[in-house]
Amino acid sequence: MPTRACFPTFIYREPLQPTGLARLNADLADECRKLRDFDAAGRRWSAKNYPGGYTSYASMNELHRFSSTFTALEKKLTRHVRAFARTLEMDLRGRSIRMTDCWVNIMPETAAHSLHLHPLSFISGTYYVVTPRGCPGLKFEDPRLSKFMAAPPKLPDARAANRPHLTFPAEAGHVLLFESWLRHEVAANRAAEERISISFNYNWS
Ligand code: NI
Repeated sequence: MPTRACFPTFIYREPLQPTGLARLNADLADECRKLRDFDAAGRRWSAKNYPGGYTSYASMNELHRFSSTFTALEKKLTRHVRAFARTLEMDLRGRSIRMTDCWVNIMPETAAHSLHLHPLSFISGTYYVVTPRGCPGLKFEDPRLSKFMAAPPKLPDARAANRPHLTFPAEAGHVLLFESWLRHEVAANRAAEERISISFNYNWS
């Protein structure tokens, strides 16, 4: 082949663990809903900034420090983040990584989350706790989109890696990881039930 793919953008998707996900997710869902009931400041912030939904992003965003359930989740997630960093060939020899933020997102029907990225971290991701049938996945945008000023559109059947947007399904028990600069969004939830996810950031030192 005369043409080679260079400067790839990697996205990681794996089940959190091989077994025991139903029990873990039931515990997490319960804790997420209790948090929403408890977190009045978060509900106020969400009413202004996360219409129709609840996020603890601005109120309780270090859940891994305060809840043993979330601390256990952090341990499991860190293994995945290390594996992803290895795939990216990041040199973490003699360096450490740590979860800096961890927060809950609850999206009832119609709630959406517009395009954003995650500043002040290097790897971010989401763990899916409750994903009713038909709920939206995570939609990523090609980071080079602003450079395609004069490029023709892609063929309708272009392969995934050549498309300007890609949606990864939200599936309970799965971890999605991406480099924190990669912009993404969640379309409006069209399922009648709540979609629950836990998002997080990692940094290194
Ligand atoms: Ni995000």
